[in-house]
Amino acid sequence: MRPTIRRKSAKPPDSYRDRERCSQGNREGRNPLRTAVGGAAPVRADAERGERLQKVLARAGVASRRQCETLIAEGRVQVNGQVTRTLGTRVRPGRDRIQVDGEVVRADAPTTILLHKPAGYITSRSDPQGRPVVTSLLPQAGLPRLFPVGRLDWDTEGLLLLTNDGELANALTHPRYGVRKVYHAKVKGQPTPEALARLSRGVMCDGEPLRALRVETLHLTRQKNTWIAVTLDQGRYRQVRRMCEAIGHPVLKLIRVALGPLSLGQLPRGQWRPLLPAELRGLYALVPHASASEGSEWSEGGGTGGQPGAGHPRARTRERP
Ligand code: URA
Repeated sequence: MRPTIRRKSAKPPDSYRDRERCSQGNREGRNPLRTAVGGAAPVRADAERGERLQKVLARAGVASRRQCETLIAEGRVQVNGQVTRTLGTRVRPGRDRIQVDGEVVRADAPTTILLHKPAGYITSRSDPQGRPVVTSLLPQAGLPRLFPVGRLDWDTEGLLLLTNDGELANALTHPRYGVRKVYHAKVKGQPTPEALARLSRGVMCDGEPLRALRVETLHLTRQKNTWIAVTLDQGRYRQVRRMCEAIGHPVLKLIRVALGPLSLGQLPRGQWRPLLPAELRGLYALVPHASASEGSEWSEGGGTGGQPGAGHPRARTRERP
């Protein structure tokens, strides 16, 4: 059966020096993607080498990677005007002209950024109720169309990745990989060590067994509430809030401070920054089937794309020739 081509209607710095190099971005300000990559030689080398054609097509939303392989084998894909049936063909997104059945495919380079999501924003590209969405914190131009990786609640703040690499996003949120997330939660009152131990042993919430990998007390507040650090390798809906509620200490404030090898660091609320090459490599290393060399490029042009499924950046653009 022939694949149906999807229409586009539409993804802590290691050292202080890295941190310095990685300037922060904001809506109005300059695009740090242009400035944060000095000295990123391995990434540049990968960019020169290009990416596998089927991956670029899949990211552009043409079809699944498998289906794109079929399209290539059937001779329906052209690169710079030449039909290619070779699955290993490497292309440079944004530089090579790629067509499927004669239609130009808009191929953005894989881009992943880290946003410090403030409370009061929906983790989505759009909201039917008109509430502020996280992507409104990004510049209008200069970034491809990015989609949040997983979600943070409206009232949760902290580290949120946005990417146009659907495979990376899926892998990072897939339970199989159990990517670790660290949250700092201000909880009501002073939980006893026994109460906190229950979080690690596991609590039943709405029939769902939820547990933390690690829980520790950080400090007490003047109001006699408690900051705790909770590490999860699960990613269930409102997990930290439901677990803390279950032990009788509801969450008053919640901040995600780390995800896999990434830390929020000193990035101010509402600001974003591109990932450093070392951070990208660390991220892709968590999800072995994805390739660091293919996820470590950035786009310097504005992107276009479409509406994803839940958390999945199905960014699709097909330009007419
Ligand atoms: N756990 C929650 O309760 N909320 C979040 O936003 C993330 C984890």
